[in-house]
Amino acid sequence: MSSVVLILGALSDIGRAIAHEYARRGHVLHLAARRAERLEAELSDLRIRYGVQAHAGEFDALAFDTHEAFYAALDPAPELVFCVFGFYADPEAARQQWPLARQMMEVNYVGATSIMEVAARQMETAGKGCLVGISSVAGDRGRAKNYLYGSSKAAFTAYLSGLRNRLYPKGVHVLTVKPGFVHTQMTAHLDLPPLLTSTPQRVARDVVSAVKKRKNLIYTPWYWRYIMLAIKLIPEWLFKRLSI
Ligand SMILES: NC(=O)c1ccc[n+]([C@@H]2O[C@H](COP(=O)([O-])OP(=O)(O)OC[C@H]3O[C@@H](n4cnc5c(N)ncnc54)[C@H](OP(=O)(O)O)[C@@H]3O)[C@@H](O)[C@H]2O)c1
Repeated sequence: MSSVVLILGALSDIGRAIAHEYARRGHVLHLAARRAERLEAELSDLRIRYGVQAHAGEFDALAFDTHEAFYAALDPAPELVFCVFGFYADPEAARQQWPLARQMMEVNYVGATSIMEVAARQMETAGKGCLVGISSVAGDRGRAKNYLYGSSKAAFTAYLSGLRNRLYPKGVHVLTVKPGFVHTQMTAHLDLPPLLTSTPQRVARDVVSAVKKRKNLIYTPWYWRYIMLAIKLIPEWLFKRLSI
């Protein structure tokens, strides 16, 4: 069944890959990003390639006061919402400059929950819909290397769990997605282990399949579930000495 899809953070590499998956299946798309004029090339590509209806919307996760009006203006109303945007600052820079750490928390948690709450209220009233949050394996355990980013994602993961709990009896589904390392603009400057680094297209395919199967939480690729399980099992007295 075709639904109306909203992608928040549509210029992210993962957001783009998700858009292609749904456009290929003939869904109507709303793509939202900061400076929406940058979406024009993406919209034309999707329309020409797949012959779908695709619309652009101006969305800034930090412009909290605009979220209600932004969502209300979406026509047709979304039935499937992807919260994909995110901000990752260099961990050392974030430790030295509080505004960068704060921006990660505001984009990844406050901004994400602000717009998800708006969408949740609309779907609750409609009695149907699906909300998908792109969190991260980094939220599973605070690590010396990236605990400021990780804690913003941990908060988002906890939020999604509660939202799923609240909306289940209302007929609205909530999916939490925890990608491992992915080759994107966000990680382009990082030296990631090739064997453990996935692609936005792989993440997008896993997400589409999880939405279809109404899964609650996925790790993508799947093996990250076991990597994170092992990391979570390390006792704290040892973990603090590893400094990973
Ligand atoms: N890459 C990985 O290894 C990895 C792993 C786990 C989770 N994730 C998560 O996956 C999601 C997608 O990231 P990606 O890897 O595809 O990175 P990306 O290509 O760098 O995308 C990040 C996007 O977030 C948008 N954004 C940042 N601040 C925003 C704001 N205030 N309002 C609206 N949009 C904002 C950026 O928009 P502009 O173009 O306007 O800057 C950009 O399009 C993120 O939530 C990220 O945390 C990524």
